[in-house]
Amino acid sequence: MATVLVTGGAGYVGSHACRALAEAGHVPVCFDDFRTGWRAAVRFGPLVEGRLLDRAALDAAFAAHRPEAVMHFAALSLVAESVAEPGRYWRENVGGTLTLLEAMRDAGVGRLVFSSTAAVYGDSDLALIPEHAPQRPTNPYGATKLAVERMLADFGAAHGLRAVVFRYFNVAGAAAEATIGEQHRPETHLIPLVLEAALGRREAIVQHGDDYPTPDGACVRDYIHVGDLAEAHLLGLERLLRGGESLTANLGVGRGYSVREVIERARAVTGRPIPARIGPRRPGDPARLVCDPALALAELGWRARRSDLDRMIADAWTWAQGAGYDA
Ligand code: UFG
Repeated sequence: MATVLVTGGAGYVGSHACRALAEAGHVPVCFDDFRTGWRAAVRFGPLVEGRLLDRAALDAAFAAHRPEAVMHFAALSLVAESVAEPGRYWRENVGGTLTLLEAMRDAGVGRLVFSSTAAVYGDSDLALIPEHAPQRPTNPYGATKLAVERMLADFGAAHGLRAVVFRYFNVAGAAAEATIGEQHRPETHLIPLVLEAALGRREAIVQHGDDYPTPDGACVRDYIHVGDLAEAHLLGLERLLRGGESLTANLGVGRGYSVREVIERARAVTGRPIPARIGPRRPGDPARLVCDPALALAELGWRARRSDLDRMIADAWTWAQGAGYDA
């Protein structure tokens, strides 16, 4: 049983990781500033309210809770926003993580599970993208995550930090009992927007571009259930607690769906018509991102078990029909 500081623990993926940690008997200490996280998502352990760029707040959290490890989710994570406001992304994602790593070093905490992204690969010609594929981010968001990966390697060499880095593909779904789920202000992610259209809260879903070099012209993504992602984080933590080496691994299924296919499956799962129309491409979007998940299986024994597309949409639909965090 370990105490784990979870930055961004009130966010979408962070809250599901806190839930998985608590279920496994660990103590997740949520560190969040609630700019994008939700107070109602903090249900699984203690809370420290603070900003990642506030070194004193981090020092106080380490002193008060003495965590054995950190899971680091806190970041800005919207591709289009990062294209428009790169400075904020470099300050928060890279500067924020640097502050965290120095606080960890000085507190003697040498284990980190880090939330990276498939956006580090940029446009790839590969049918399935392995970890050694070229890393050429097409947007500042991906560039900041890649910069952090480099920083982790340097802190590892100099200070002995051990890090498990997970490059997520597209996260979807929610805890089956719908106590926590995906909610962003503003929402930009495909599945929640499709479900808002299903609920009649928006007039239609707009497909961003239909002239990509893919079978139906729509972008293709590899969707992974947030519960499967949370489980991988537990396995990554356990590896570090056992003294295992640093690791960088993709988390995805190894199968892609186009935006059009996602909308069609959502119509079937919800039984609602879901009007859709075609709009222009969104800046920074790669045409196709599909994961080669072999390394996570080999190194961690992890494989996606809940990531059937219909199930992810069904779990997200249960959450979308509830009151969300606004109630
Ligand atoms: N899309 C639409 N219409 C919408 C919203 C999205 O057509 O209204 C399309 C996007 O253009 C994209 C696909 O649906 O082709 C998925 O878009 P999301 O916004 O749901 O997710 P992204 O693929 O842009 O990004 C997500 C995470 C990033 C991460 C990336 C890695 O938000 O943090 O996956 O693949 F880097």
